[in-house]
Amino acid sequence: MTQAAPPHTAGQQTPARKAVIPVAGLGTRFLPATKAVPKELLPVVDKPALQYIVEEAVRAGLAELLMVTGRGKDAIADHFDRQPELEAALEKKGDAARLIAVKHASELAKIHFVRQGEPQGLGHAVLQAASYVGQETFAVLLGDDIIDSRDRLLERMLDVQQRRGGSVVALLEVPRQDISKYGCATVDRTDEDDVLALSDVVEKPDPDSAPSTLAVIGRYVLSPTIFAALRDTPPGSGGEIQLTDGIRALIRAGEPVHGVVFRGRRYDTGDRVDYLKAVVRLAVEREDIGPEFRTWLNGFVAGGG
Ligand code: G1P
Repeated sequence: MTQAAPPHTAGQQTPARKAVIPVAGLGTRFLPATKAVPKELLPVVDKPALQYIVEEAVRAGLAELLMVTGRGKDAIADHFDRQPELEAALEKKGDAARLIAVKHASELAKIHFVRQGEPQGLGHAVLQAASYVGQETFAVLLGDDIIDSRDRLLERMLDVQQRRGGSVVALLEVPRQDISKYGCATVDRTDEDDVLALSDVVEKPDPDSAPSTLAVIGRYVLSPTIFAALRDTPPGSGGEIQLTDGIRALIRAGEPVHGVVFRGRRYDTGDRVDYLKAVVRLAVEREDIGPEFRTWLNGFVAGGG
């Protein structure tokens, strides 16, 4: 016996399956380290920053990934590809743990690549995913934000999108002087404590005139209508086509856009000092090297070096 099809509501939409990860940024803040090495491959402890992002997407059920890349980023594709010579060498040495780690990176997900051509901003990067994504709701993960794997932000956003439809962004309360680094949301409350309804969003406002201190951080679950909005979006802040401006157009067109307020652990690897903090925080929590590193760190902080 077959069951009657459920009515088509926001709750019955097909869940997002695809994630888009823009990786075309130049990484100028990390020069000269990023002259020949993509910033996304800088290690956080012993894993490239980007692998944390890919693992997060896969954990949330998004196993189809598109990376929007640019010139000088070929090493990213190599990292997520098989490396038969290296695998054979590790096998010969009997180094099972490293063999598993090396293979793991290539078995995580089905990863596709598209080039951005000219870097014209985050909105332009996302637009390059239009034909890959088609008519589906999809996620965007920005490589500079590592979300602690114990804090299920993306899962929560996917859940909110399923129930409420439209698009969902991640929001973080930041000090007012920092809001000029982010998209900034104007919001109304909903009946869920961590879910807010956006009535506007503006890219990198002056702290003095910013409408709130709620920053958009690097996780989005977007309706495919964003592509048409981005095609109509002129260059904005910094002379670039901004994803924020595309989302603003969706709000103005009456589409639901919600924000999930994140109160968990986030590591910003796009800034040198925050990058160092991310390495230290993740290193002390590691089971293998954590105890030894923590002992040293305690002594160092106490002035012992
Ligand atoms: C981008 C977005 C901005 C967002 C930020 C999150 O800015 O344009 O709206 O708040 O990511 O990290 P970028 O960091 O590329 O300057």
